[in-house]
Amino acid sequence: MTVAQWVAVGRASDVPPGCAARVVIDGVPVAIFNLDGAFYALDDTCSHQEASLSEGDLDPDRCAIECPLHGSSFDLRTGEPLSLPAVEPVRAHQVEVDADGVLRVALAEDEDAA
Ligand code: FES
Repeated sequence: MTVAQWVAVGRASDVPPGCAARVVIDGVPVAIFNLDGAFYALDDTCSHQEASLSEGDLDPDRCAIECPLHGSSFDLRTGEPLSLPAVEPVRAHQVEVDADGVLRVALAEDEDAA
């Protein structure tokens, strides 16, 4: 079993409620969302085409992010698409805020790399 590698990506206060940020970890663009104080992290690149999910609109009712290009929604907890045209999920990553208010992300493993 692989131990998660936590990477500090900034301060939690830099991503206020209702906002998102884009960071790059090991070359992977990751979108971090703050939904009413709860943090979520997904691959930033939409699974449909080249669009940045961190530039989309949060949907608090569905705990989802809406892609800014064609409007597919993705579940923030799982990365599963909730509406077309996207049919493939994006990866959901672990995210936490440490005792010093630092946001940390652990990238999910590539399914292909298992
Ligand atoms: S690029 Fe995201 S739904 Fe098309």
